[in-house]
Amino acid sequence: MRFILKEVPSCASTNSLLAEMAESPEGTVVFTERQTAGRGRQGRSWISEGSLTFSLLLKPPATALVQTLPIVVGMAIAESVRKLRGDAAGVSLKWPNDVLLFGGKLAGILCEMHNGAVVVGIGFNVNSSPAIPDMKTAALADGTCRKFERRDVLDVALARIGEAYAQWLENGFAAFAGRFDELDALRGRRLTIVNYGEPVEGVADGVNNDGSLRLATANGVENIYSGEAHIKM
Ligand code: BTN
Repeated sequence: MRFILKEVPSCASTNSLLAEMAESPEGTVVFTERQTAGRGRQGRSWISEGSLTFSLLLKPPATALVQTLPIVVGMAIAESVRKLRGDAAGVSLKWPNDVLLFGGKLAGILCEMHNGAVVVGIGFNVNSSPAIPDMKTAALADGTCRKFERRDVLDVALARIGEAYAQWLENGFAAFAGRFDELDALRGRRLTIVNYGEPVEGVADGVNNDGSLRLATANGVENIYSGEAHIKM
C-alpha cells in the first residue's frame, strides 16, 4: 500500500480530522504530536502526552468483515513493538485490540466507519506513558535505556499494518487466528465483559473467525461482539 502522510502540529483528534477527509485516497495518514481531544473506545479519552497518535484511511470492499480489522491492526502493532524493541518478551493483545507490554497498555486502536471507509486511529505510547487511575500503562521504551523517534515508530507500524491489511484482504481473518492465539492475553482468564447491557462473566477461550470473543459462562459458551474485558483477580 502507498501511504500518503500528512503531519499536523496539533489537532483535536486525528480520527476526526481524517473523517473530514474521508474522500481522500486509501492509505492517507494523518499524524500529530499533540491531540487536544483524543478519543478512545467506549467513550474514553486518549491522553496524547508521550504517544504517537495517527489515523489511517482504509477502503476495504463491502464484503470484508470489517469488525475483524481492529484485531488485525492490533496484531500488526504488536509485531511492530517486537521489531522495534528487538525482543518479543512481554508483548500481548487484550481483546479486542489493546496492545500490552508486560500487562500494561502500550497502544489502543479506535476504528470508525465513514460511508464505507474505515478510519483506523492508533495511540501508541513511545518514550513514556501517562499515569491513568486504575489502569497499568506501558511505553515502547520501557526497560530499554533507549529513546525512539516517533517518526521511526510510525514508519515501522505503517509497514506492518500495510502487510497485514494486504493479507487480510486476500485471506480474511482466519489467516490470523493462529497468531492471535500466541498473543492472546485473555485466554484461560476469568473475565467480566462490560458493555452497554448487563456485565457477562466467564472464562475467555480465544476468538472466532468473525472476531468475537468466546466466553465460557455458567450458561455455556457466549460469543461476545463488543465490550471491555476486565480480568478478575
Ligand atoms: C482505546 O484504547 O480506547 C483506543 C485509543 C485510540 C486513540 C487514537 S489516538 C489517534 C486516534 N485519534 C483519536 O482521537 N483516537 C485515536
